[in-house]
Amino acid sequence: MGDIAAWTRNGAIAVLTLDNPPVNAISQAVRSALVEGVKRAAAEPDVSALVIACAGRTFFAGADLKEFGKPSTEPFLTEVVDTIEGAGKPVIAAIHGSALGGGLEIAMACHYRVAHADARLGLPEVTLGLMPGARGTQHLPRLVGVSKALEIIALGEPVSAPEARTIGLVDEIAEGDLVEAACAKARSAADAPPRRTRERVAQPVSDDIYEQFSQRHAKKFRGLDAPKAIIASIRAATELPFEDGARRERDIFLKLRAGPQNEALRHVFFAEREAGKVPGIEGGEARVIETAGVIGSGTMGSGITIAFLSAGIPVTLYERDPAALKRGLAHIRMVLDGNVSSGRMTREAADRALSAVQPTSDMAALANADVIVEAAYERMDIKRSIFAELGELAKPGAILASNTSYLDLDEIAGVTSRPADVIGLHFFSPANIMKLLEVVRGRETAPDVIATAFKLAKRIGKIAVLSGNAWGFIGNRMLAVRREQAEAMAVEGASPAQVDRVLENFGFAMGPFRMGDLAGLDLGWTPESSTGSTIRERLCEAGRRGQKTGAGFYDYRDDRKPAPSQEAEAIIAGFARDRGITRSSFDDAEILDRLLWPMVDEGAKLLAEGIALRESDIDVVWLNGYGWPRWTGGPMFHARQTGLPEVTRRLRALGIAPSDALMNLANEDSA
Ligand code: COA
Repeated sequence: MGDIAAWTRNGAIAVLTLDNPPVNAISQAVRSALVEGVKRAAAEPDVSALVIACAGRTFFAGADLKEFGKPSTEPFLTEVVDTIEGAGKPVIAAIHGSALGGGLEIAMACHYRVAHADARLGLPEVTLGLMPGARGTQHLPRLVGVSKALEIIALGEPVSAPEARTIGLVDEIAEGDLVEAACAKARSAADAPPRRTRERVAQPVSDDIYEQFSQRHAKKFRGLDAPKAIIASIRAATELPFEDGARRERDIFLKLRAGPQNEALRHVFFAEREAGKVPGIEGGEARVIETAGVIGSGTMGSGITIAFLSAGIPVTLYERDPAALKRGLAHIRMVLDGNVSSGRMTREAADRALSAVQPTSDMAALANADVIVEAAYERMDIKRSIFAELGELAKPGAILASNTSYLDLDEIAGVTSRPADVIGLHFFSPANIMKLLEVVRGRETAPDVIATAFKLAKRIGKIAVLSGNAWGFIGNRMLAVRREQAEAMAVEGASPAQVDRVLENFGFAMGPFRMGDLAGLDLGWTPESSTGSTIRERLCEAGRRGQKTGAGFYDYRDDRKPAPSQEAEAIIAGFARDRGITRSSFDDAEILDRLLWPMVDEGAKLLAEGIALRESDIDVVWLNGYGWPRWTGGPMFHARQTGLPEVTRRLRALGIAPSDALMNLANEDSA
């Protein structure tokens, strides 16, 4: 059976242990070994039952995603599953770690399932734009009922072993050694005929159940093809005999697998893992982080504090103004309380987090922190004075991080005596929720400081992406390009509501104008310096500073819902008149092209300049920091799927010359 599988005996029980590090992905070799193992158990007369177990950290974590997109190789997973389920001798799954996707499908084909108490079981295919394709949608409703099956498959969230036991997905939780427990189960089952999941009945439920489920999760399912397919396939389990249901499942699965969403979401899966690999840094020694300091208790500083606290890292929170510090603490308490009431956190964990924050208005209290994140006002003079002080008072080896979103990190580092310790950690608001962390490497940032930042990011549940030091870094530099195009279109005659609708239909939660209103149009704006040279300035001059003032590009009444504004429209039209710009109507396709492709052009420049390491990093930034719809894979992937030569053609059609950087990528693409 080769290195991938070991065959051992425990009396009359055969134990087949598969070993395909790191996560026992179900590669072709694994599938072959499984089929062979079942055949061998059948052939050897003194074997009474078979236990299937995995070596290493986990049970099968799913199909081998690296084989996707290539021609399928035999035996297919369906054949493995049918072979196991059809075996004449009982087959028992011994589950530890994660049984995910095809891994759980194998487990459900087994006649009994014994799990370690810490195991997790799930069918996360939906997160890849897929659904289970090897009887999973037919087996699961037979084991746990339609409602639970809908939750597990369409939401893609794994269940714990104890919960799996309660709902009937697992037969037994192993006390003590897992394989021993599975063998004991095998012995007790050996004389009975195999208990096949397919022979059970999936009880039909009323249409209301499906309808309510879809409605309850409408927001989550928006834009995705897979949830509808999953619901149809689960329904088939209750309406059709097993074989017919399995065929229906296969047809639906193959359609999803060939579709663009699956390709895009697989790209996202690997892109997010790739982002953590920084050439020259990987595997490097990281510094020890036990305590953190945060400077500034505004929205950002509070959010960052919560992110640290939630990961069990105590925080000294510095804010010069005691009143602001008090407000910050109240906000932190409110968010943690909210986490408790929504069930995301236990009361004890929230109390523990709260007691681990040490508020102070004395900067010297930061002297013991291993990492200090400055989240003060976004002005160079303020940052310079803070970092000059930090350079003096922070302990040797402490990491000095700035949460700046636009400013020059090297200038900030330059005021300290230790620029090698300085790094950018750019969080996204709300910092306790948004997944993205842009890690900005300055000219002198030490490699171990970068390694530490990546490790820390993982610890606090963030996805880190490396960026070079350049205005706006990766995300905001591209955002600025989109904003410029959106505002230009508004001046040229598109309404903010039309532009927003187009981007929202593409899959963003919010279009550029709603987003601008929410963030505030007066970021960096002052009445003194305002010259009326952009529509934003003119709106601010008219007191329309965004949602907080009840007016921006839109009008806001009490419900904070945007309503098209005649006043804003008149201001924009006046601006166009002053500039001699003729206004005309736009069609939706043109708006979308003009929002997306200039961003991709900017992305190409970021790559050419070495600010972003890889195209997929740019995708990860936009997916996790700006709400780019995951099922399109991110800006650069979406451009690749569209075809880069086509993207350059469309830019030209808009009257925009593609950059050399984009032309080079496009030429490589068509070569
Ligand atoms: N196929 C191929 N490779 C896989 C894989 C799969 N199904 N699942 C994980 N890997 C790889 C990762 O790419 C990573 O490789 P790398 O070290 O070269 O980057 C490695 O296994 C470890 O994965 P990672 O996610 O970093 O580890 P983790 O301990 O945080 O999480 C899992 C482990 C199994 C929970 C997680 O990898 C996972 O959810 N995998 C996907 C499960 C899935 O969707 N299965 C259904 C497939 S249809």
